[in-house]
Amino acid sequence: MQSANPSWSDVDDYIAEHLIGEDMALDACLAGNSDAGLPPIDVSIAQGRMLELLVRANRAQNILEIGTLGGFSAICLARGLGDSGKLLTLELEPGYAAVARRNIDNAGQGDRVEILVGEAASTLLGLLEKGGVPFDLVFVDADKDNYATYLDYALKLSRPGALLIFDNVVREGRVVDPQSEDPKVPGTRKLYEMLKNHPKLDATAIQTVGAKKWDGFLMAVVREE
Ligand code: DHB
Ligand code: MG
Repeated sequence: MQSANPSWSDVDDYIAEHLIGEDMALDACLAGNSDAGLPPIDVSIAQGRMLELLVRANRAQNILEIGTLGGFSAICLARGLGDSGKLLTLELEPGYAAVARRNIDNAGQGDRVEILVGEAASTLLGLLEKGGVPFDLVFVDADKDNYATYLDYALKLSRPGALLIFDNVVREGRVVDPQSEDPKVPGTRKLYEMLKNHPKLDATAIQTVGAKKWDGFLMAVVREE
């Protein structure tokens, strides 16, 4: 939309129009989420494409996602995988997982995506005890109180060189306020504290504005030694 006073969303529309185009599967996913009453807290179209490109650029073959919601980001991540790639995504709410299953299948990504329902921390402990294939990319977009726990598991379950990505690490700037009344700030700040001078991880965070307002992604790479 033309505007003398462009908004962050106008720019996201411009980005999507030029760089991404129509995406019926993602539109259908958002419609399915809305019909089922899921909160509209998915990543944006532009951010979803960024996730897809990060998967491709890293040639990731085994992806772990924590926090499926309706499967929007799972579809994006799965699209970046090569033919033999797999995505495992963890969701607490069985109802959300059912919506995600439909959306992911409808997007043609069903064969490569497994959804495990339950508390992510327990599922992750089970994965660790089973000692499966290490992940080469982890995307965390779930309850912020447990971000520190998820970082621990992500590190234990990944290979050297793996990329770990956390959503919502800026929270319209509230992350810098230790007295913030936003209940999701303490868990987010704990993630940053853990990453300060971390012996095995190099990290940064990038602030973003757009359809999802002012927020950001934290990214960390597991050192190869
Ligand atoms: C919320 C959670 C998210 O993962 C997000 O991207 C935006 C908002 C929330 O819980 O409010
Ligand atoms: Mg999020």
